Amino acid sequence: MKIISVVGARPNFMKIAPFIKAIKNYNISAKNKINHVLVHTGQHYDDRMSDLFFKELNIPQADINLGIGSGTHAEQVGKTMIEFEKVLIKENPEWVVVVGDVNATLACSVTAKKQHIKCCHIEAGLRSGDMDMPEEINRLVTDRISDLLLTPDKISVENLLKEGITKEKIKFVGNIMIDTLDENLEKASKLNIINIINNNLIENSKIVDNINKYAIITLHRPSNVDSKDVLASLTDFFKDHVAKDMTVLWTIHPRTEKQLKTFGLWENILQNKNIILLQPLGYHDMLRLNLDASIMLTDSGGLQEECTVLGTPCLTLRWNTERPITLKEFGGASVLVGNNIKRISEEYIKTLNVPRKPHRPELWDGKTAQRCLEAILNY
Ligand code: UD1
Repeated sequence: MKIISVVGARPNFMKIAPFIKAIKNYNISAKNKINHVLVHTGQHYDDRMSDLFFKELNIPQADINLGIGSGTHAEQVGKTMIEFEKVLIKENPEWVVVVGDVNATLACSVTAKKQHIKCCHIEAGLRSGDMDMPEEINRLVTDRISDLLLTPDKISVENLLKEGITKEKIKFVGNIMIDTLDENLEKASKLNIINIINNNLIENSKIVDNINKYAIITLHRPSNVDSKDVLASLTDFFKDHVAKDMTVLWTIHPRTEKQLKTFGLWENILQNKNIILLQPLGYHDMLRLNLDASIMLTDSGGLQEECTVLGTPCLTLRWNTERPITLKEFGGASVLVGNNIKRISEEYIKTLNVPRKPHRPELWDGKTAQRCLEAILNY
């Protein structure tokens, strides 16, 4: 059997790593081995957004890189479809496996189906209900056309059934990201926090020699970083509140760096002694920092999930989430606070001094990749 799996952007890499490992393990004893081809669309191309994760997570170099790079959504999706179609014609796989909700997920699932190739979506069924999010459109289209929908939780199964997808196509397998977390936890926990900070400082920041209590901030969603008013008020909150209580470690996504500079907010943050700006971190470094963080303020979906498993109190800087299972009401560590400063402030105060409460939703057990592969083999 030939399987092509696709990655495009940073959050895909930790989802594909365990799947590739499951194929490798299967091939050790299988009579009919799986011929696996890894395609990287090249949506994320910086060392720190891409190569670093391949190295750290032992992902073999992609067999094919489409070199798509940056662009508008239509440019990224259009270029990916044109290039991926050529790959499919040449390789003629039985299955295309896509993960997550990035532009590569949409572009490659549509291209596969138009070539009459079976498509499997890992992390199917997540719904924010927010059609202003490009990721929501990617999820809806991919799930509507895929042959096999592998979900991280039962809420996602319900979402798919409500949309009229037949039950035979859906399989609840658990969260594949947690396979990667479990696999890397021991290695990450041995890292030294001060070294991580000093090795990842941005520009000419001063070397740090000790750190006590700290918060981690990550932002990249257009809804938070593309409007000057929103980004400025969030930045003020980080400076005027969080940075007064503890050290703020802010890992800067390329989109956010661009916007902070465009809006004239960059210098002001750099001057704040209690805010440390860090480059995009590698997987182990982020995991290590997350393990001891007093609080996470983020708009990332993956971090919400990791905070749930590690028990780090998490303020999710969004009005909705496609991952309700990570919310406090479902036993998780996260609270939705949007970008309204009053709400953020109230919830921020409530989370201070809250003890860590690690929680594992059903089947977030580190064995999801194995179940994904079995679902494909048994299809
Ligand atoms: C993408 C995903 C999002 C995911 C996020 C994680 C889509 C629609 N969005 O958003 O779901 O949560 O990745 O990072 O697929 N850039 C660089 N270097 C890079 C990559 C990007 O400088 O290696 C710059 C681009 O020039 C662009 C900006 O960062 O201006 C945003 O990149 P883009 O790929 O459009 O989407 P993300 O915001 O990263």
